[in-house]
This record gives sequence, structure tokens and C-alpha cells, in this order.
Amino acid sequence: MQTFIKNLASLVDQEVEIKAWLYNKRSSGPIAFLELRDGTGWVQAVAAKSDLSATVWEDVEKATQESSVVILGKVAKHPKKENVFELQVKDFKIIQLAQEYPIAHKEHGPDFLMENRHLWLRSKKQWAILRVRDSIITAIGEYLHKELFIKVDSPVFTPNACEGTTTLFPVPYFDLGTAYLSQSGQLYIEAAIASVGRCYDFGPVFRAEKSKTKRHLTEFWMMDAEAAFVEHEENLKIQEGLVRYIIRYCLNNCQEELRILERNTEPLEKADNPFTRYTYDEAIKKLNELGSDIKYGEDLGNDDEGILTKDSEVPVFIEKWPKSIKPFYMKRDSVNPDLVLNDDLIAIEGAGEIIGGSQREDDYDLLLSRIKAEGLNIEDYQWYLDLRKYGSVPHAGFGIGLERMVRWVTGVEHIRECIPFPRTIGRLKP
Ligand code: 4AD
Ligand code: MG
Repeated sequence: MQTFIKNLASLVDQEVEIKAWLYNKRSSGPIAFLELRDGTGWVQAVAAKSDLSATVWEDVEKATQESSVVILGKVAKHPKKENVFELQVKDFKIIQLAQEYPIAHKEHGPDFLMENRHLWLRSKKQWAILRVRDSIITAIGEYLHKELFIKVDSPVFTPNACEGTTTLFPVPYFDLGTAYLSQSGQLYIEAAIASVGRCYDFGPVFRAEKSKTKRHLTEFWMMDAEAAFVEHEENLKIQEGLVRYIIRYCLNNCQEELRILERNTEPLEKADNPFTRYTYDEAIKKLNELGSDIKYGEDLGNDDEGILTKDSEVPVFIEKWPKSIKPFYMKRDSVNPDLVLNDDLIAIEGAGEIIGGSQREDDYDLLLSRIKAEGLNIEDYQWYLDLRKYGSVPHAGFGIGLERMVRWVTGVEHIRECIPFPRTIGRLKP
């Protein structure tokens, strides 16, 4: 029966069958050290010529990097390393003898690796990133369900913009004209809260971002959460609770992955503390003090986010931005109607913005005037305006960029490694 590498700890001294790929092989005379990967983990198998028939030993010698294999072996504790296990090979079969593998165990340039992304995913670091990504997805679902959110989801083809018209991807849509790939499902889950109270979506969103940065993809995954009867203050609490839950979850469940990634986990441990809060106004003043030439009314750039969080051990909320630089749906601050009740959450260690959120305008007339002022087509938003006609309630929500979060937790430099098949302005393949 097939056993998984993850479960070997409980099978010491037993004979097990592992189906895997040969990641690496070192031979020293009549002994071969085979490093195997089965998806659940990594294990070293030790094959001794003296234990094996001549034909089996021949196969061991012949096996190439990335050959798929079946191994029968006895589980043993590693002679020196605590909590590490090995296999003593009793039988070895090749399922498919791999041709010469393009990604050798040496340094390759990023372009070459990106061209071979379909193969690169098998490398140890990429394996670890994929698993951290999965853990973050799991943590998000767990936290939200504990907070009584349910998953509702939103469409990818949409008739209108959610986050400004400049980054829309148009798609010809039969006789109905042009559809746009969704930039965020927010508007749709705002509709769903009147049915289920609190909900979220989680899926790919699209932005025709011309920016070539280490933090921008044209297709990325976003979790949008929305809750009825939640206002600005509570919105921030939910966001902080979520991010701290994700961090704790990864620290507890991704130890091997973070070790492979050589991630210093201390900053993550320290980040699980109350987050800092600045108003936009305070943030601009602080930035100017710290040497940035940003002016009131401008969006924060990458450098500004870095400067603002440089000495912080915890992520920083920047709340209450000028309405002029934020989308139409954000609710005005009753104290100063030039501001909106929103927040950007900036992570530490140069990770940048990970969340954008706000309380939503719930008044029909005010929302209508914002839609008009933005020059948007009112007809496209009629359904969204309807929500303010039938039992409108104060409500708020936010969106977290999955790959931005993966980038922070893993500590990898470029966001293109944080999604299995990245799409950027210059890349559509593989
Ligand atoms: O701040 P954004 O644009 O907010 C919204 O879309 C809201 N409608 C969300 C909501 O309130 N439900 O995007 C949310 C997050 C950002 O904070 C960032 O983490 C990520 O999405 N993001 C990107 N990630 C990768 N590549 C890009 N081009 C991104 N643009 C935004
Ligand atoms: Mg934003």
C-alpha cells in the first residue's frame, strides 16, 4: 500500500511503499543516496548494492533526476538528525526514466526559470511556497468561518468597473458588447450580505497594471470579505484578527516550509501584536518628517510604504484617506466629509500594502452623486444602487491580496513566485 512521506514518523522500523520523484542522487561506490519527493515531503533513501539484486541495483544506478519511481523501504530514524527519517531501500522500480532535466541543481537565471515554470514548480523552494500559499488560504477560510462569514463568490465576467476604469481588461462578449474581467468581487458580495449577513469571495481578479514591480501581477487572487452592520472600527478589528490568525497558522503549520525558505520567523512572531494606526493625515506628516517629498492628496508609493514601516514591528493601518483619491463606493467621514472611512494595511519588511478596505456608502443619494461625479455610467450601477433602496444598512469590508500575503510570509523577493503560473505585463506563458 502506498505511504506518504509526511507520515513516516509513525512508521519507524516498518516496510513501506513510496511513490515519488527522484530529486537528487549522490553515489559513493556501492551506496546511493536518493533524495525523493512525493508531494507531501522529502526523504532520503539509502540504497546499498549488497541489499539489492543486480537488476534492481542497475535501475538505481540508471535513475536520472526527476525520474518517477516506486520504492519499497524500511523506515529508520536519521542517525544524527532529530525528527528526520530515512528509508533503507529494499526494492526500487522506475516508472518513467526522465530525460535530461533542464533545471539542474545549480543557479539558473530568472528568465530561464520563468520559461520553465511548469518544471520549476518541483524545486524545493517552489514546493515550500505552494504549501505556504495553501496554508494561507486555509487560515483565511478558518478565521472567517469562526467569525460567521460564509463563502459566496462573485463572477469574473462583469459589465462594469469596481476599482477604476484604467485597469480593466475588456473581453468581447457575444451580442452583449464588452465584458470586463473582474477587478474585485466586492460589489457583488455587498449584494449577498443582505441574504447571508457576512460573506466572502476568493478567486482570481484582473488588473491591466502597466507597473513592472515586484508586487504587481495582472492576474492575482483576492479574498473580498463583506459584513452587514459592521462599521469602520470593527472593520479594522476583523482585518487585524485575520492577518494575525494567518501568521499564527503559518508559524504553527509551515515550519518545514519556512525552514526550506530560510525565513527568519522572528519578525512574523513579533508581528502578531496590536497593529499601529495612522490617519492618512498623520502618515503624510510622518513621511515628510522622514524625508519623503509626498504631498497631501497623493497616493503612497512603494518607497513611502517602506519608509513608514521601516522601524515598525507590526503592520500599519493608514485610515481615512482623501475621498478624491479613493473609489466611489467608500463612505464619507461624517466628521470631515472630504475624507472616507477606509484603510490600507501596510505590512512590514517591505511587503507593502496587503489589504484595502472601507465602510461603504449606504445612502442612495450620496452614492448616486459619487457615481455621477466619477463619470461612471449610471445604468451599469443601477443594480448596485438598488441595494441602497431596499433595507440599506451600514456595512464594511475589505480585500486581501493573496500573493502579497504569500510574499510577506515566505519572504520571497518577487511576487511572480507566489502564484503557480504568474501573469504579468510581460508574461503569458507557460
Ligand atoms: O486595494 P484594492 O484595490 O481593493 C479592492 O479591490 C477592494 N474592492 C477590496 C474590497 O474592499 N473588497 O485591492 C486589494 C488588495 C491590495 O491591498 C493588494 O494586496 C492586492 O489586492 N492587489 C494586488 N496584488 C497583486 N497584484 C496587483 N496588481 C494588485 N493590486 C491589488
Ligand atoms: Mg489598495
